Amino acid sequence: MDKLLSQIYGLSPEQLKAYSAHVMLGGGSRGGPILERGKGVRVWDTEGKDYIDCTSQSWALYLGYANDAINAIIHEHIENMTHIHQGFDTKARYYLAHKLASLAPAGMNRVSFTVGGGPAIEAAMKIAFKNIQPSRDFVTLFDSYHGTTLGTMGASWISTKSIGKFFGGSRFLPLTRAFVRIPNPVTYRNPLGVDTETYIDICLTMTREIFQRGTSGKPAGVIVEPIQASAGQLILPTRYLQELRKICDEFETLLIYDEIQTFGRIGDVFAANHFGVAPDIIVLGKGLGAGLPLAAIIISDKLEGFQGDTEELHTFANPSLSMITAAKQLEMFENGVLANCREMGAYLGSQLCALCATYPEVGDVRQLGMHIGVELVDDPESKNPLEKEAGEIRKAGFRHGLILGTGGVRRNVLKIKPPLIINRSECDEILEKFTASLCDVLRK
Ligand SMILES: Cc1ncc(COP(=O)(O)O)c(C=O)c1O
Repeated sequence: MDKLLSQIYGLSPEQLKAYSAHVMLGGGSRGGPILERGKGVRVWDTEGKDYIDCTSQSWALYLGYANDAINAIIHEHIENMTHIHQGFDTKARYYLAHKLASLAPAGMNRVSFTVGGGPAIEAAMKIAFKNIQPSRDFVTLFDSYHGTTLGTMGASWISTKSIGKFFGGSRFLPLTRAFVRIPNPVTYRNPLGVDTETYIDICLTMTREIFQRGTSGKPAGVIVEPIQASAGQLILPTRYLQELRKICDEFETLLIYDEIQTFGRIGDVFAANHFGVAPDIIVLGKGLGAGLPLAAIIISDKLEGFQGDTEELHTFANPSLSMITAAKQLEMFENGVLANCREMGAYLGSQLCALCATYPEVGDVRQLGMHIGVELVDDPESKNPLEKEAGEIRKAGFRHGLILGTGGVRRNVLKIKPPLIINRSECDEILEKFTASLCDVLRK
């Protein structure tokens, strides 16, 4: 082993404690173990304890830790190239762009690559501004999350509602703009207490009103996560997306899908294809590079794309290694990974639903592929959120060797989003550990 690597791997608990003072974090729920190595769906900490990872590390390690096929292709390709300037073409970039275009909805054929999810949303915003003129505003849904760059912060979660607690509060306001918000069609609990179909109609009516009277001229685009992940794993109804598409056409604004979390994880490459409603721009990130950094936008043939005059230029926007791993992963998607994701996701979903019989606190299970959220409430009638308990269950999960995510506007949603390669006995292990964690907290 390289001497430096053995020095790093050999850092003592005292050194780790001392060095941690130098690490400055701007987010993420800390308090978990220090991770040392992983394989498949499992990761080990520095104490040698193992965990099944239901977060896939920011939901991005679709093929799990240290995937053999991905590692092999990395080793081969790394002998040839890693970083290439955006201005030079490579076979890897041609191949991946072609592959993504061939899988995307018809008429979406141009791909621009970039360095991360937030910058990819901003790339989509630039395309929207270029094509919809004059325009000033972007519209997004209540409780959406689209990144923490200065350009996307205002579109994210509760930033427009809360000065102080999130996203640096007012300190970033000089360069952060609030986005115009439209109501999200929540199916589990809506503020008016009406049935879901009626609430969808109300959301759509309000959206029309806001487009007419709540924006400064024509909005450049509406940015939508087909499954609102941070908001609490809210799966948008197909009818809502169909009608939103019509509203965007009527008001001549662009429909932009943030597919950063749904890509592949829902058991289909693109949410646009799954829901059968095509947007004008699709944004990808997170799992796109099979664990290596990569993000992209795919745009409709109807739109004017980027020009080569430095409208969109990033040092690391042509990462050859990530493009090779992304292409390999797409091949693996077709050779069983997505089918497994659909099958194991449905199994996990049905078993989690069955937990409601013993734990009425399991108020709702929302599942599409391996995109799963469990909403905890005090009882199924009142649906009062169990925020504190959700945090405690996450901690109990660590004790049982299970890494869970938490989220939702009320912080009462547990997220179960493991790598897509998970098998049946690993699903059973998740269910067993999850139930034990529920029992520790809810039946103590
Ligand atoms: C739906 C969605 N959009 C955008 C982002 C931002 O991506 P990144 O963290 O790569 O900037 C995220 C990240 O969590 C996300 O979940």
